[in-house]
Amino acid sequence: MISIKSVSKSYGSKIVLDNINLEVPKSQIYALIGPSGAGKSTLIRSINALESIQEGEILVKGVSVHSKQTNINQLRTNIGFVFQSFNLYPHLTALQNVTYAPIHVKKMRSHDAETKGKALLASLGLEEKCNEYPGQLSGGQQQRVAIARALAMEPQLMLFDEPTSALDPEMIKEVLDSIRKLALTGMTMVVVTHEMGFAREICDKIVFMAEGKIVETAHPEQFFSNPQTERAKDFLAKVINH
Ligand SMILES: Nc1ncnc2c1ncn2[C@@H]1O[C@H](COP(=O)(O)OP(=O)(O)O)[C@@H](O)[C@H]1O
Ligand SMILES: [Mg+2]
Repeated sequence: MISIKSVSKSYGSKIVLDNINLEVPKSQIYALIGPSGAGKSTLIRSINALESIQEGEILVKGVSVHSKQTNINQLRTNIGFVFQSFNLYPHLTALQNVTYAPIHVKKMRSHDAETKGKALLASLGLEEKCNEYPGQLSGGQQQRVAIARALAMEPQLMLFDEPTSALDPEMIKEVLDSIRKLALTGMTMVVVTHEMGFAREICDKIVFMAEGKIVETAHPEQFFSNPQTERAKDFLAKVINH
């Protein structure tokens, strides 16, 4: 589904992505973890061309994301992206947030988009919130609207950049539960997260990054019980049982 080949990127003399190679097969869930500044956001954002790259190539379903020939808007309809800060349209209701792209990008009929949008919001426990504005919703509810909005385009791939980092602790579970549900549908996902229990439970692979490099890629059980590198051991010692 995703093929990342020898990707590098720098800002001036600072290397943020240093020869990244990674394959994410269809229906697999990969967690991207590592210390702040490791390059996790830069990497996940480059998968749908929210970031440019200087070297290498990223393919999504065989399409070269950064190629000038690629219609990036077309490609992005296949890729759902969920941000740490929700990024909902504040002047649109929850339902309007969800139906906006299907109506305006996919040219779906309003009535069909609304029927589908309501069903999606209901599946995320938000049936009562369709007509509320983002400012009237809790952070956890806003993030579930953001997930519904991404799913409304029927993407084949979902990318999450720290989806729970801006949430109060009691709201983290409701958002993680929504992602867990999505995992059961066979959705391909890449999730940048600091929720180690969640990563261990639902992910097929843990990709550990530090200083712009992939330091270790491993099965969760292997990674958490027996990390192979000093860098990963050091990181885990800091994030677990602190
Ligand atoms: N626009 C930018 N200009 C200069 N440096 C940047 C810019 N964006 C990110 N960086 C740097 O790139 C590195 C990786 O950032 P990021 O991908 O956000 O890391 P992470 O998500 O793992 O915390 C950091 O050192 C950050 O300061
Ligand atoms: Mg980040």
